[in-house]
Amino acid sequence: MEVVIHSSLAELAVATADRFEGAADGRLQRIGLATGSSPLPLYDELIARHRRTGYLAAVEFFQLDEYVGLGGDDPNSYRQFLLEHVLGPLGLPAERLHAIDGAAADPFDEADRYEAELVAAGGVELQVLGLGSDGHIGFNEPGSSLGSLTRVKTLTATTRSDNARFFAAPEDVPHHVITQGVGTILRAGEIIVIATGAGKADAVAATVEGPLTSSVPGSALQLHPRVQIHLDEPAAANLARADYYRETLLARPRLPDPPR
Ligand code: F6R
Repeated sequence: MEVVIHSSLAELAVATADRFEGAADGRLQRIGLATGSSPLPLYDELIARHRRTGYLAAVEFFQLDEYVGLGGDDPNSYRQFLLEHVLGPLGLPAERLHAIDGAAADPFDEADRYEAELVAAGGVELQVLGLGSDGHIGFNEPGSSLGSLTRVKTLTATTRSDNARFFAAPEDVPHHVITQGVGTILRAGEIIVIATGAGKADAVAATVEGPLTSSVPGSALQLHPRVQIHLDEPAAANLARADYYRETLLARPRLPDPPR
């Protein structure tokens, strides 16, 4: 894993947005998007660049996860989050987002359908991830199979409490989600993880320097050959090898590897 520690969120936004330059000449066509607070500086930078160059005009986007029980038009759904924060400001139609239907009559069937849709599309060349304070990626909570595919998961109390800030009342946070599995995520050609703030410091250290374990699903990223994790100083605070990472010579963005 390439660990990149930034002195400001503005610097983090520029460095992560640089990984999308392949979209300018069509090398990058399918991008997976996380929701939540962590990727917002990146998304704002992508929108600013796109307004100057239009370089994301042909890209297709894929949802990472969705709450079970919330339809795609619900203001708290992750589909709406991505339309509001990414596709809308980019001026792209909603159809450009491959969405998970949280209100599907059978969420288990919907999970299988979405996994098949991803495979049929050829997978994503680039996946954006956040990191849960409990070490989750997507909504693969601790204990998730490291080979899992898109499926229904139950949120932990920690995650429901972390996400309560987006809802009118804590009890409104759904208990279940449909999420790409760890195995699904690991098929992406390249992965960018963004984690900021002191609340992520333990999860970052366990993900980057801890053993590979389903207790910390983020640690599965150690198996992927092309992962960058971008941090601010507070999120990097518990890394034993922080000084070493600061000397990292970053690989230039290059031709995307095909999805695995
Ligand atoms: C969101 C997702 C989650 C979040 C994680 C961090 O689509 O899959 O894994 O990335 O919970 O959330 P924030 O960035 O809000 O701290």
